[in-house]
Amino acid sequence: MENSIIVIFGASGDLTRRKLILSLCRLFASNLLPEDFAIIGASRSIYTNESFREHLSGAITEESETVRNAWKAFSGHISYQTVDTSDSGNFSELKERIATLAKSHNCGGNVIYYLATPPSLYGIIPEHLKAAGMNDESDGFKRLLVEKPFGYDLASARQLDTRIHRSFDEKQIYRIDHYLGKETVQNLLVFRFANTLFEPIWNRRYIDHVEITGCEFIGVEKRGGYYDDAGAVRDMLQNHLLQVLSMMAMEPPSKINASFMRDETVKVMQCFRPLSAEDLRENLVLGQYTESTVRGEKLPAYRDEPGVDPQSRTETFVALRMFIDNWRWSGIPFYLRTGKRLPTRATEIVLYLKKTPHPFFAGYASENKIVIRIQPDEGILINFGLKTPGAGFETTEVGMDFHYKNLSSGNVLDAYERLLLDAFKGDATLFARSDAVETCWEFIQPVLDYKRAEGSLYGYAAGTWGPLEAINLLKRDGREWRTPCRNLTSEQYCEL
Ligand code: NDP
Ligand code: BG6
Repeated sequence: MENSIIVIFGASGDLTRRKLILSLCRLFASNLLPEDFAIIGASRSIYTNESFREHLSGAITEESETVRNAWKAFSGHISYQTVDTSDSGNFSELKERIATLAKSHNCGGNVIYYLATPPSLYGIIPEHLKAAGMNDESDGFKRLLVEKPFGYDLASARQLDTRIHRSFDEKQIYRIDHYLGKETVQNLLVFRFANTLFEPIWNRRYIDHVEITGCEFIGVEKRGGYYDDAGAVRDMLQNHLLQVLSMMAMEPPSKINASFMRDETVKVMQCFRPLSAEDLRENLVLGQYTESTVRGEKLPAYRDEPGVDPQSRTETFVALRMFIDNWRWSGIPFYLRTGKRLPTRATEIVLYLKKTPHPFFAGYASENKIVIRIQPDEGILINFGLKTPGAGFETTEVGMDFHYKNLSSGNVLDAYERLLLDAFKGDATLFARSDAVETCWEFIQPVLDYKRAEGSLYGYAAGTWGPLEAINLLKRDGREWRTPCRNLTSEQYCEL
């Protein structure tokens, strides 16, 4: 891995402090960063190098002893440069700073630019970099990491892409979808394509239907201003859930590399059945949380959260029934849901297998399930039917449950650690390519149009599983969402 400078735009912000610096420090503590490197934080706030390091250091206190011990040496690589994107002169100063640090840290011309600013600046920063000649790769690589959201809708995503492509080539651009950095999401490929046990059944012949749930207990916290403009469809469905779905549903790539892998994810995305307004009336449920008391804690309604319009019609929950029109998945419904202020935090994929053809055990045919727990308690659960010990042929459901935490070896990298490491290595496999982002927006655009024009919005009490309509979305097909956390009873599940 070559030495490199990393410039983080948006350095005084929440993401830098809470995720990026911690991830870089953990990589450093595990000796995974290049031999030498320099980190330059860039934003408008005024800091000295020391006060910037001090500002970041608070985030390290809850880390392991190894990481805390690494902080002193690691933070010596961090400096700060005031940059206001409305002042192009600041980019020339930044260029000089990079050149100085490149010499002292032996980084040649290698630079990674990380855009962690408000998305409205994702277009202008690459233009400034180009104007100052900071995109030129003649002396070393120049990589541009772009945080989500990439665009606000289909038109703006296309415009942003065109704008960035005027300054950086596609091979220089790394669009972050941190779900692709999750170990359990990457394991979908190994689980599917390295196991004869599962590979042959991964299709419409054996799978009855699929659920993908991404639920969170937290509300919008301090991000009300951003979220009220985005909503669950833009914040989670358009990117994270569709990326997970495509990893789960794609065809095997002929090689695991950036180009083959991303070709296959795009191909499956292109098969998502387009959503007409009529489909959406039937198959989309939007919800917004209302005030409630959960485990003794009073939780405010979404409309009372700081930064949220008191009349807001922004959805904090979305459930969608959709299809993939290709050979493998023809006719199989996929049910996706995500929301804030649901009873717990859990992301999982559930594959329900078809019932056996002749249920001769007192009419019982077990519903085999494969549950892939993306987070937390990462693992895989397989449910199957067992003869209840004793006389006769009574049956009971049991599970085989694998937990990552039981692995004796192997340090599982957090998503941002993995993605930052890959950016240093120049491996774009786990970053969203331009055509994937555009295809997902194409699929989601009718939802945005529907939301604006006529979409009903249902209330749900904070701490419940979303609006009743989301339960009915499956009920009318004779199905039920799986409750991801076992400590909740089915009564709690239905209590809305
Ligand atoms: P914050 O609002 O906390 O930070 C924004 C940063 O941008 C600040 O450092 C701010 O610093 C800087 N900034 C704003 N305007 C300018 C300007 N004109 N010139 C230079 N710098 C500027 O946002 P977050 O850290 O929460 O998010 C950053 C990005 O990451 C967003 O696009 C968000 O969608 C994305 N993201 C965030 C996640 C999170 O958990 N926070 C999760 C996933 C994605 P200053 O005011 O000092 O200039
Ligand atoms: C972010 C969304 O992209 O993903 C947040 O903006 C959400 O609203 C977060 O909370 C969820 O990520 P994770 O890794 O905690 O599931």
